[in-house]
Amino acid sequence: MKKLIIAIAALAIAAPTVSQASPQSDLNKMKRHFAKKFPGVKYQDYANGIYAISKSRRIEWESMEEFPPYEPGVEIGKSLFKKYKVGKCFKNGGIGIKQNYPYYDGKSGKVRTLEGDLMACLKRNGINTKNEKLQFGKGKFAAIAAYMAFTSRDKTTKVKVPKGKARRIYNKGKNFFYAKRGQLNFSCADCHVYNAGVTLRTNLLSPVLGQTTHFPVYRKKWEATGTSPLHGFGTIQRRYSGCNKMVRAKPLKPKGGKQNQSYVALEYFHTYMSNGLKINAPGVRQ
Ligand code: HEC
Repeated sequence: MKKLIIAIAALAIAAPTVSQASPQSDLNKMKRHFAKKFPGVKYQDYANGIYAISKSRRIEWESMEEFPPYEPGVEIGKSLFKKYKVGKCFKNGGIGIKQNYPYYDGKSGKVRTLEGDLMACLKRNGINTKNEKLQFGKGKFAAIAAYMAFTSRDKTTKVKVPKGKARRIYNKGKNFFYAKRGQLNFSCADCHVYNAGVTLRTNLLSPVLGQTTHFPVYRKKWEATGTSPLHGFGTIQRRYSGCNKMVRAKPLKPKGGKQNQSYVALEYFHTYMSNGLKINAPGVRQ
């Protein structure tokens, strides 16, 4: 950890001012930034994270994908999806809908994430989530979300941010992304915008573009924490927690069966930064 802190400290940059531009112009600006930084990378390839920007890492990844390690877990996710009658709660029976999440729901005045709706659905269907060990972020719950994402493969991310309250939530997420935090005083943007492509000890930093398309992911690191194929899965908000911890900031945990609203806002902004990119979840990561 100490070495990581030294490596991180070397990347520090001054906090930029965050403008209140429209989401579309934010995305255009982000695309221009990366087109300059990585001129050889095709836009669609950003959906592959670090494997879009490193040839040697890409070879490792392609060999992991030959026998996709997430397949048994996705099958379990599918059977749980059926068992808990999740299809009842969603448009199109819950199949091929991930690309429209998160979305602003005018009735509740809130942004809804797929995982938030999934948890609400399980409760509505009378499932005792505690007894069934269904919790946000990982395990069986993440496997159901991974199955739903899997059925959405090749659909294009299409997050909408209407004017008014939705825009305010988007801006809250954007501010979260650019705000310095933790004892190390780092923003998400420090690592995933300004220092994308830099190696932090053994970690190559991925660009923010496309970061959401392959979530839930299947991580080798998480897989190693148990013996079931479900251990590898983690949702995007689980990853936010991990990145927060890396800079010694407190992760924002779900409370009372609901996701933290700051992470929801972050997910809204963050997913917008993948608009136009195809869903390819679950992705395999180290
Ligand atoms: C100190 C640097 C650092 C900061 C700050 C940081 N991350 Fe990360 N993040 C990493 C590293 C290292 C990885 C693993 C390599 C990679 O894919 O970038 C990672 C991975 C990720 C991934 C997974 C990418 C993939 O393809 O699987 C997401 C998503 C992510 N970070 C989002 C965020 C968000 C959102 C924030 C702000 C809350 C944040 N990160 C802050 C270093 C950082």
